[in-house]
Amino acid sequence: MSVSLETVVALAKRRGFVFPGSELYGGLAGTWDYGPLGVLLKRNIERLWWEECVFSREDMLALDAAILMNPRVWDASGHTETFTDPLVECAACKGRFRADKLEDARRCPTCGGALGEPRAFRLMVEAKVGVLDDGSGRVFLRPETAQGIFVNFKNIVDTQRPKLPFGVAQVGKAFRNEISPRDFLFRTREFEQMEIEYFVRPEAWESAFEDWLSTIHRFLARVGVDGERITAVEVPPEERAHYSSRTVDIEFRYPFGQHELLGLAYRGDYDLRRHSEFSGIDLRWKEPGSEPFFPHVIEPSFGLDRLVLAVLVSAYDEDEVGEGKRVVMRFKPEVAPFRAAVFPLLRNKSQLVAKAQEVFRMLRASNPFIAFDDNGNIGKRYRRQDEIGTPWCVTIDFQTLEDGTVTIRNRDTTEQERVPVEDLPDALSLVS
Ligand code: GAP
Repeated sequence: MSVSLETVVALAKRRGFVFPGSELYGGLAGTWDYGPLGVLLKRNIERLWWEECVFSREDMLALDAAILMNPRVWDASGHTETFTDPLVECAACKGRFRADKLEDARRCPTCGGALGEPRAFRLMVEAKVGVLDDGSGRVFLRPETAQGIFVNFKNIVDTQRPKLPFGVAQVGKAFRNEISPRDFLFRTREFEQMEIEYFVRPEAWESAFEDWLSTIHRFLARVGVDGERITAVEVPPEERAHYSSRTVDIEFRYPFGQHELLGLAYRGDYDLRRHSEFSGIDLRWKEPGSEPFFPHVIEPSFGLDRLVLAVLVSAYDEDEVGEGKRVVMRFKPEVAPFRAAVFPLLRNKSQLVAKAQEVFRMLRASNPFIAFDDNGNIGKRYRRQDEIGTPWCVTIDFQTLEDGTVTIRNRDTTEQERVPVEDLPDALSLVS
């Protein structure tokens, strides 16, 4: 169903998924904080990414490089020179805007005043390390995780002895001084990337590219991104990043329009060649019987926060049940913050509460992501769990005390069935 961004932002805040960054002090543009449920949702998406793209394969290795890197890295990668957006300023109200995102790049969208000429605005966030104030400690917070992989290429090859083709995966924060952060988690100044640099023989790039495209689609379906909202877009040469000779953007229909969710790029040998030139260390692949060469690179680059937004939008639904309208987040069970919630039918019957706690602890032994809820009446608890997308609710009632069975209520159908307590781990797919 269609849902407005305001509705998603309000639900995310109300239920503890995502809060505005530094809200207590009036906020900080382009930052968001993940609340208790948002952390669970985000980490489930990340976990499935590791499973689908890394650990289920035999050709993948993992890395966790530092956010702060030697500034020469960004000279070699081309970011120092080219990682800019066109900035325009209004002569009247002093508002600053990204020229390429304006309908009329000559008129201020706020006050209608005249906008100046665009100038290149560097997107890397600067920081200072060390004790000297002479500029020698000037560094950048990484604008992409990818470069950590390229600068560790030799370390990885020397220590792990992989065979081509192989890939290196990394998840971590990236920072960009976006001129106009906007649309909730879509464009922020601090965000998380999940990136893979997949190294291939030059002649093998096309098949690896297609292979990763299928993996991306499989992963998106697995985490519950609505396939109807996804479009794969071939990026024309004039819009590609400086390093890319083919890019396919996977775009998603957000409530504010269709925009990039993630990208798949063919980076050729750009990065290894540049880092060899700038560092003076030969990063070519060497094997007996052939000339040394630079492996080529296929890069699937996922923005984790955009994925969280796409999963929230895809899962959002409203329907009519029993006494009226409900909001239900139809998350995939593997992605939902909680796999199940356990309730005692009545909170003031100590035998029911004790039994419910026993069942809760038993389930948590196979899967820690189980909620316990004894607030309000059963109807209210169902609404709450529907709104946070819990696939199953387990109720302990008087019959449980007699015959050891419980009811399981299905979030999507709202139907209930009775099962013996010992069948719960299977019924709730707790071990998957
Ligand atoms: N290493 C390639 C690279 O960084 P990119 O298209 O600039 O390519 C990759 O970024 C992904 O990172 C994007 O598809 C998006 O999901 C995410 N991303 C980029 N900028 C972002 C921002 N300001 N806020 C949230 N996510 C962002």
